[in-house]
Amino acid sequence: MVDISKIKNITVIGAGVMGYGIAQVALMAGFNVTLVDVKENILDNVLAKIEEGLKKAQIKGKLDEGVSISNIMSRCRKSIDLSSAVKESDFVFEAVVEKLDIKKQICNLVLENSPPHCIFASNTSTFRITDIAADSNRPENVIGMHFFLPVVLQCCVEVMKGEKTSDRVLDIGVEIGERLPCLKGKRLSVRIEKESPGFIANRLLMPPIIYLSWIFDIAFEKGIPWEQIDADAEARKLIPMGPCELTDYLGVDTSYNVLKSYEKIFSTDFAPGKVLTNLVSEGNLGRKTGRGFYDWTAGKPEIHLDKKAGILNPEMTMAIMLNEGCKLLEENIVSGYKIIDDVMLTGTSMPGPFGPGKRNYVKWSKMLDEFVEISDKTYLKPCALMRSGGFINMRK
Ligand code: NAI
Repeated sequence: MVDISKIKNITVIGAGVMGYGIAQVALMAGFNVTLVDVKENILDNVLAKIEEGLKKAQIKGKLDEGVSISNIMSRCRKSIDLSSAVKESDFVFEAVVEKLDIKKQICNLVLENSPPHCIFASNTSTFRITDIAADSNRPENVIGMHFFLPVVLQCCVEVMKGEKTSDRVLDIGVEIGERLPCLKGKRLSVRIEKESPGFIANRLLMPPIIYLSWIFDIAFEKGIPWEQIDADAEARKLIPMGPCELTDYLGVDTSYNVLKSYEKIFSTDFAPGKVLTNLVSEGNLGRKTGRGFYDWTAGKPEIHLDKKAGILNPEMTMAIMLNEGCKLLEENIVSGYKIIDDVMLTGTSMPGPFGPGKRNYVKWSKMLDEFVEISDKTYLKPCALMRSGGFINMRK
């Protein structure tokens, strides 16, 4: 196994929003970086973006003194030929589209063509690392390293084992994570010993979509305008945008794909509802296609929040996240809830559910019970640790 001090050459596969950020911070940390994507023009655009990003970091005084941008950029290469790009790679970050077959194919190709010590780290949002590594020749060298958007500003990276990942590879992943700078402060590189698809953050963020997708369908059946659903959420100020606007903003297909993936892994309760399914099959994916819940063709839609539907309770989102956080404790994915709240804050800039959860768990358990009763979404039933409040003594 490679000595950490010998890791010099990093390859980042997938030069989208995540790959771009990972490449920039790896360059800032002093590594040689090769960026790989499918088209030259994608890579050229991203290289220009990285240079811009470095200029901003320099203005904020975040680059070491005496280090020039041209010097940093001289350590950055691009390639559209994956097999040859990883020939001398010590460490590979994979940040291509969230499709299991593509991630598996890339994992196999990297491990076949790179030196034996090379580590493959996937930035997957939802898949099991064990599944990504399953057909590769070195599953012990495969880990999950999940960054947050934007990578340069959100300081958290979750580092997780698959079933066959060696402890040494996990150690190296955590250490590499710590070395990658963050413009807002020290990077929090979180070690997750036990596999949890969605790591910590997405385990908490995804189950609320079961509830929201159910609300979308009820609103559609009753002919309630989407604005009124968003108005329900705004009323309590717990979420920054209403769920319809947010889904459009992030991409309707993103919510849909995550639900499909979790439907296979966790429960059929994650199956996307009619509204999300129809929007995706019609190609109405939100902001990026010009239409989703709202019409974005003339820019950000004007959303009137003066009338509420009165069917969405934004507190449910926190209740569902508290329940999922308690499940992570019950499953021994983490041993204390502080790390869950830390991941939420440093990864998403949203407070975790445990602070308010300590005061509200009785009320929130009742809310979840009532929701399960009417919706039959049994995945959201409060777990024993939430119901009893036993989590309160499990901070560390
Ligand atoms: P994106 O769609 O912006 O970028 C994906 C890039 O991968 C594209 O440039 C595409 O051309 C490239 N690509 C596709 N197939 C390829 C192949 N065979 N070889 C090389 N490049 C290929 O996607 P994004 O948002 O950057 O997500 C990437 C990964 O990071 C996904 O697994 C996603 O779930 C995960 N992720 C995304 C976050 C987000 O907020 N966008 C946050 C954390 C993780």
